[in-house]
Formats: sequence, C-alpha cells, structure tokens
Amino acid sequence: MTLKVLTVVGARPQFVKAGMVSRALDSAGIQETLLHTGQHYDSAMSDIFFEELRIPAPKYNLAIGSGPHGSQTGKMLEAIEAVLLETKPDRILVYGDTNSTLAGALAASKIDIPIDHVEAGLRSFNRRMPEEVNRVVTDHLSDLLFAPTETAVRNLANEGIRDGVHRTGDVMFDATKAATRIANERSDVRERTGITADAYVLATIHRPASTDDRETLERIINGLQMVAGELPVILPLHPRTRAALDRFGLLESAAAHLRLIDPVGYLDMTSLEAAAAVIATDSGGVQKEAFFHGVPCVTMRSETEWVELVELGWNTLVDPSTTDPGAVILSRIGHTGRAGTPYGDGHAADAIAGVIASSLDG
Ligand code: UD1
Ligand code: UDP
Repeated sequence: MTLKVLTVVGARPQFVKAGMVSRALDSAGIQETLLHTGQHYDSAMSDIFFEELRIPAPKYNLAIGSGPHGSQTGKMLEAIEAVLLETKPDRILVYGDTNSTLAGALAASKIDIPIDHVEAGLRSFNRRMPEEVNRVVTDHLSDLLFAPTETAVRNLANEGIRDGVHRTGDVMFDATKAATRIANERSDVRERTGITADAYVLATIHRPASTDDRETLERIINGLQMVAGELPVILPLHPRTRAALDRFGLLESAAAHLRLIDPVGYLDMTSLEAAAAVIATDSGGVQKEAFFHGVPCVTMRSETEWVELVELGWNTLVDPSTTDPGAVILSRIGHTGRAGTPYGDGHAADAIAGVIASSLDG
C-alpha cells in the first residue's frame, strides 16, 4: 500500500523546507500532494522558490492571500478541510509556525487525520508573537513531531509531549548545504549589487514586532544607517517592511543610506549570506543560515527560539524596542563563535521521510 500525504505550505520559509522534504518523501516511496494556501503570493515571495528548488507545482493553490489573522486562518481552515475530505490522505504534513501551519493542523485534527509537524518544539515563550501560538497549538495536535534540536525535544517534554517526538536535525541545514553548491555556480547577486565579499552587512526585517511600531522600526533603520557609514548594508525588503517604511515616512531616508532591494530568491540569498561580514535580522531561518555559513549574526529581537546560537557565541540579541542595534552590529565584525553541531548532520529530510514511511507499519 502507498502512503498518501497531503503537505500544506504557504509562506517563504516553508517552501525552502518543503524543497528538501518533498524530494526525500518521493525517494521513500510516499505519494505527496502539495497544497499552497497562497499566504505568500508575490512571485519573489513564492514562485521563485518553486523554480529554484524544483518543487513541483502545487496541485491545490487556495489563493487565500493576506488579511487579519482570524480571517486569513479561517479561510484556510475551511478550504483545507474541503481538500482533505476530497483527497482523503493518510496523513497531513505541516511546517513551522505560520497561519498556514495552524490552519492545516486544525483542519486535519477535526477529521481525525494524523498530523506530522516539521520544526516541532520551538519556543520563544512570548505569546504576543502570532507564531508562538501557532507552534504551541500545532505541537499539541500533532502525532509525529520532528524536533530539530535537543532544546526543542526538552520544550515538548516540559509540556508533557513525549510520544511521537523524533529529533531529526534541521531541514534548513540540508537546504543550505544543497543551495550553497548551486549558488556558487549560478548566483551573480554580488556583482549585480556591486558589493565585495566580506565587506558588507546583510539585513532582513519582517516581524510585526519590528515593523508595526514606528519608533522601533526607526531605531532599526537608524542603527543600519549608522552601520552603513562603515560598510554597505544590503536590505532585501519583505513586502510588510516596505509597506511599514512607506506608511511611517521612513522609506526615502532608508533608500538614501541603505541598499534596498526586492526580496531575493533562495540562491541569491544564500550567496548574500555566505559572504556577509555580519548578518542583522529578525528572521528565524536567517539566524541559522548565518551560522551555517560561519557568519556572525545580530538578532534584532528580545528573544530567540534558536538559543544554541547565542550559547555558542554566534548570535547576539539586541532588543530594538529599547536599543539602537547599530553599535552591536559593528562590534560583531570579525567575531566568530565556538564550533558545534546543534542542528544535526544535514540529513534531516531523509530522517523525517523514514519516520513517516514507517508509520505505515505502526
Ligand atoms: C509570515 C508568518 C511568519 C513568517 C513569515 C515569513 C504568520 C502569522 N506569519 O509573516 O511567521 O516568518 O511569513 O516571511 O503566519 N505581502 C505581500 N506579498 C506577499 C506576502 C505578503 O505584499 O506575497 C504583504 C501583505 O501586505 C501582508 C503582509 O505582507 O499583509 C504580511 O504577510 P503575512 O503572510 O500575513 O505575514 P508575514 O509577515 O509574511
Ligand atoms: N529568504 C530569501 N530571500 C529573502 C529573504 C529570505 O530567500 O529576500 C529566505 C531565507 O534564506 C530563509 C527563509 O527565506 O531560508 C526565511 O524566511 P523569512 O525570514 O521570511 O521567515 P522566518 O524564517 O523568519 O520564518
């Protein structure tokens, strides 16, 4: 009997993770059907990842688009349920902590379809983050929980979740390893943007906590502008951030001092990360990618789910709601952390596919 899995993706980091896992599922003989909620829909936020990572076009694209949390998640819930009832998969597979993750898990839980969660057990312990609520609920509904780290396994145990937990390592490590080889050959982003290896800072900002409050966003931009006095700062702008800069009247000044570009594809991003002097970000994925490339990182948040990187000295937290991050970013140039392998050996996707395949026997 062939195992049938319905995979739900919707946002940029999920395409990166699914790129690795989809291939591994196929190799393990599992029949996967891909559903895209349409949470991210700009070509630079979605299509380019499917092309570069050679992910097959989703069989279902719900085209839900943007909206307030309840409305966006509610529309997804209704539409995913309809697909589950029509396709009757053996299992559902969800990634990370977005509204698409929550909607997939909730829809499946109501009609008794077992849930597999990749990137289970991550916690910021900050319930004001929409992602924290999404992760906690998804983990408590899941049957197979793929934890990337030892910390994640411990977080789950602390909430009483022990059954079905597998520490597999992080599929983003698999993805970085695969993309680095290809990006070295194909990406010309550094030539296009006129930057020199090891002599620029790469920044990304997209979280509501960074963008929704004018003072915080202004502090981040001021900090990056201070850094730009020493080294060029390249900032691929998430659409949420571009809209916020525009709304607060900060776009012109930012454009005058920083190299603002549209969001880039995964190969260009890999190339920009690999040769940066420092990465300054509020992204979950980008923090880890900095480490995979051996680049020091400043996380512009008050806490992180990826605590191993702070402990190893690769990542420094600075809370932009109170502190201008500029001096901290400059101070990290040339500072590496200690060696460590908290995210596995780069074969997480195969490990995940193996566990899912063996669920048939159980
Ligand atoms: C979402 C996830 C976040 C993840 C991030 C990855 C939730 C609650 N948040 O945040 O966990 O880190 O994706 O990037 O699920 N927009 C566009 N074009 C697009 C997509 C978005 O213009 O293709 C704009 C819209 O104005 C939208 C805003 O960006 O309102 C935010 O998009 P949304 O998907 O709601 O949240 P993200 O900030 O992207
Ligand atoms: N990314 C990308 N282009 C960009 C910004 C990010 O390819 O312009 C990739 C990045 O390398 C990582 C993923 O998108 O693999 C992270 O997504 P994001 O920061 O949007 O979300 P988070 O990880 O914070 O949920």
